[in-house]
Amino acid sequence: MIDLRSDTLTRPTESMRAAMAHAEVGDDVYGEDPTVRALEDRVAGLFGHEAALFMPTGSMANVLAVRSLVAPGQEVLCESRAHIARAELGAHGAYSGITMRTWINARGQVDLPVIRDLFAPDMGPFFVPTAAISVENTHNFAGGAVLPLADLQDLREFATGVGAAVHMDGARIWNAHVATGVPLAEYGAVADVLAVCLSKGLGAPVGSLMVGSADAIAEARIWRKRMGGGMRQTGILAAAGLHALDHHVERLADDHAHAKLLAEAAGTDPATVDTNIVVVERSDAAAFVAAAREGGVLVAPVGPTAVRLVTHLDITRDDAEKAAAVFAKIA
Ligand SMILES: Cc1ncc(COP(=O)(O)O)c(C=O)c1O
Repeated sequence: MIDLRSDTLTRPTESMRAAMAHAEVGDDVYGEDPTVRALEDRVAGLFGHEAALFMPTGSMANVLAVRSLVAPGQEVLCESRAHIARAELGAHGAYSGITMRTWINARGQVDLPVIRDLFAPDMGPFFVPTAAISVENTHNFAGGAVLPLADLQDLREFATGVGAAVHMDGARIWNAHVATGVPLAEYGAVADVLAVCLSKGLGAPVGSLMVGSADAIAEARIWRKRMGGGMRQTGILAAAGLHALDHHVERLADDHAHAKLLAEAAGTDPATVDTNIVVVERSDAAAFVAAAREGGVLVAPVGPTAVRLVTHLDITRDDAEKAAAVFAKIA
């Protein structure tokens, strides 16, 4: 089977497994794991922030990142299909006591005029105040769309002007970086805090980081433990992340090229594919999924009329060409 359901399905390569096996480790709750420290320092540096904190999942990184900006009873604004709004099972309300309001954009983009309208200043004990604005780059459910740097910079300027913070869900920020050539530090500069994942396109088996100020990270370290995310000899996992940063960033360009190939075969305009995710619109998504499976390709329905194809480390050019032939036949 050629599995295009998600880029989280990758298995560690032999060389990644070797790096993990030989990782120097210590007890990370004591702050004594040198490999975790190295990963945290490196990722903080890449985004031009003071500190970073390694944790098991992107969902936990988002929860701790958003709660560092938004107090209970305050709100965060985000796009309507943002992962924090749709796919974290209400974690931000359940754990952090915050509310959300959303704007709708088919490509998951920053819509500054609408955000201006939504923004609620603190008016005392009458209305929920907006504490932060969250953006997702790339935007998963908008088909891996990249958010242009200029839009993010305008948002930063607006947020600073009104005293709001900016959170970036950068689960796939590496894809945005490779697709556009924008340095990671430029993305880092527009956000007070980011969540970034090693377990998506980068191909590590586990791991995400929250990136931000030293103070925010010190507080998040307490919350990570409180939520049961304090891990011990986790340098074994951090080593996979370091290996991925060394070997799996630039190659994301291959995933992006494969995604365009698949889009074309499935009848989706490849010009709308920015990175490694393709959303194919069909009158009957379930029928498309079943026909693809019949042809040896696994794809994921993401709505009654939408199917998602995701390219990743374990999809070779040959796999992409075979899958494209299957889609062309269905089309
Ligand atoms: C955009 C985005 N943010 C956050 C996450 C959460 O990551 P995790 O599955 O590690 O909790 C995902 C997962 O796919 C995602 O696509």
